[in-house]
Amino acid sequence: MTDVNSVEDSRVYQDDHLIRSLVAQYHSPLYVFDAAAIRANCRTVKQAVPYAHLHIRYACKALSLQAVLKIMLDEGMWIDASSINEVHRALIAGFTPEQIYYTGEGATLGVYRDLVERDVLVNCTSIDQIDLLGQAGGTRCSIRINPGEGHGANTQTNTGGPSSKHGIYFDQLDAAKAAAAQYGIRITAIHSHIGSGTDLGHWLRIKDKTLDFARGFPDLDTVNLGGGLPVVYNKTNDQPMPIREWGAALTQSMQEFSAEMGRDIELQLEPGRFLVANAGVLLAEAQAVKSTTNADGSDGFNFVIVNTGLNHNIRPALYGSYHPIRFIAPKDENRGAPRDYVIAGYLCESGDVFTVDAAGNLRPRVMDEIRVGDIMVMAGVGAYVHALKSEYNSMNLPASVMIMEDGTTRMIERRGTLEDVMRREAEVYQDENAPKI
Ligand code: LLP
Repeated sequence: MTDVNSVEDSRVYQDDHLIRSLVAQYHSPLYVFDAAAIRANCRTVKQAVPYAHLHIRYACKALSLQAVLKIMLDEGMWIDASSINEVHRALIAGFTPEQIYYTGEGATLGVYRDLVERDVLVNCTSIDQIDLLGQAGGTRCSIRINPGEGHGANTQTNTGGPSSKHGIYFDQLDAAKAAAAQYGIRITAIHSHIGSGTDLGHWLRIKDKTLDFARGFPDLDTVNLGGGLPVVYNKTNDQPMPIREWGAALTQSMQEFSAEMGRDIELQLEPGRFLVANAGVLLAEAQAVKSTTNADGSDGFNFVIVNTGLNHNIRPALYGSYHPIRFIAPKDENRGAPRDYVIAGYLCESGDVFTVDAAGNLRPRVMDEIRVGDIMVMAGVGAYVHALKSEYNSMNLPASVMIMEDGTTRMIERRGTLEDVMRREAEVYQDENAPKI
């Protein structure tokens, strides 16, 4: 078991032969997911936390394709869902209602009735939601507590503290208990999740705070410490999570807490990124290579335009996220000296650049000479990339393929089409005289 979950070291990122054959067979742009890597990640987390009363929920917002959910089911994972459609996708994949947990910031009465009828545990993130659950006939719930501090890879992924909208603020727990009591709802679980990309120190502090809160809930059977396990996207800057140390600390605290309470309290965790980030790559092709010149006549930037963009991976544009990128020539051949390249997408949008920092400044990378037709491989695409894709500029969505455990590849989602782009519109608004395309 390795402590370092680095996206750069993944097989799907490193294997030139595999990548060339995938582009030859399925064309590009293409998402590729590695089933064996997902399974290995699940086992890493399971083995790291030897606590006897543990359930690990996959935060399926990270990547919610059926083929992925089925692997999670097979690996014994449960589900953290953030919308009713995610609940339904998990049910379709074969999860039972008991294995699904719903954490959403807002919902309608109709959604809550559906969840109550199916007996899916709702993690209420506001006192208004406890009210709504009472109106929907709920008899038990979990509550998400904002413990007053957060920690994430950046401000957009930080989900605790006074500037975070998430959860019930820790100084309002008495009001939450009163709201639940009014409807006869038992609070059987408490939950905290302080951010995506949380380091060990913050994890351990929040674990202690959450267990302190837990002492005040007499019906408690479960403590859910959320997700947020970080992965290494950039070997130079990112700190790997010492996962065994983390798991041992959680286990010890839960054993002590159960002993103190005089009964076995279940621990739940809900990682998303850690289970899938390194298991996906995005493949594309260089379509143009061009350069600019500064006003003083000095060299500007060398741009490589690829047939994908922020529509297929918005993380660099949204958060300044770093994704390792390499190019592979269609055949082995000698290339010119390395140069600084800015890797940009094909969209009519100036922010459509993959090699940027959080402020949007261009961050060229040194690479061997790149030519039109070279294959671009982008690592770390398993988590929050396919899930955040869009059809901006009316571009078709990529197909997704999975490398199965036996080494065969299988398409798990087909490429998008113009019909897909126009489907919902065409169902309700059509001009009979429109030309057929
Ligand atoms: N539990 C809850 C309640 C969450 O909101 C999340 C993520 C997770 C678990 C899983 O966190 P993870 O283990 O994946 O860090 N789009 C951003 C990430 C947003 C995370 C949202 N919540 C990104 O691309 O980095």
